[in-house]
Amino acid sequence: MTRRRLTIDVSGCLLEPEQHSEEAPFRWESLFGTEKPVEIEIGSGKGLFLASAGSARPEHNFLGIELSRKYARLAAQRVLKSGLANVRVWPGDARPLLLRRIPDASVRAVHVYFPDPWWKKRHKKRRVFSAELVASIARALEPAGVLHVATDVQEYFGVITALVAAEPLFSEQLVPPMKEPEHDLDYLTNFERKFRLEGRDIYRASYMKPQADEVTTPVLSPGAVVSDLAGEPQDG
Ligand SMILES: C[S@@+](CC[C@H](N)C(=O)[O-])C[C@H]1O[C@@H](n2cnc3c(N)ncnc32)[C@H](O)[C@@H]1O
Repeated sequence: MTRRRLTIDVSGCLLEPEQHSEEAPFRWESLFGTEKPVEIEIGSGKGLFLASAGSARPEHNFLGIELSRKYARLAAQRVLKSGLANVRVWPGDARPLLLRRIPDASVRAVHVYFPDPWWKKRHKKRRVFSAELVASIARALEPAGVLHVATDVQEYFGVITALVAAEPLFSEQLVPPMKEPEHDLDYLTNFERKFRLEGRDIYRASYMKPQADEVTTPVLSPGAVVSDLAGEPQDG
């Protein structure tokens, strides 16, 4: 007997870029149907972070931006299977979206986890992190908004921390230790699960924009290296 795969209607979560005017900035309330603090994830992959964070913080709305339409759809499916109404997934390139479509000072947090490293020299320009992206994130974050970054690639981490250090609005924050997963889905993202199971080092950093009434004083250091890999998480 052949098994039929159930098709999930993802229209409640997966956004259709064609249905949004190309240049108009997003209106968060109409995108989500509710007015809540917004968090953005750049490069959501299969959506583990969106599903976990969306369920842990129902008082926030989450926008995942994923270049691959296939992964964007998988992420939307995962979110809907978790019964979440506070997550949307945008299939497309995060860079023009951050540059033009995100209203100023309207985002509580931006997450970029395990961005593609594009190892070859001639491919490095495809990396998502650039001075322009960092400036876009700094503009999009609200006062006291935070940028969270993680990668397993030390060289790329150095590039990211240097780019952020050049943006005077950000100050580096202490990164809490990685939590020990209690089960297979209890990781930050799919790539974090993969790399921790492989025993790789993970480099993480968080940066905060000043409070509205704070004097801007850049306090930047080269970024923390976190290698907190004790314990044997379950696979499955
Ligand atoms: C290495 S994967 C990491 C996925 C997920 N963050 C994780 O940790 O499991 C990087 C993801 O970023 C997406 N990506 C790459 N460039 C992007 C861009 N410019 N805008 C949005 N997503 C992008 C890729 O399609 C891929 O799914």
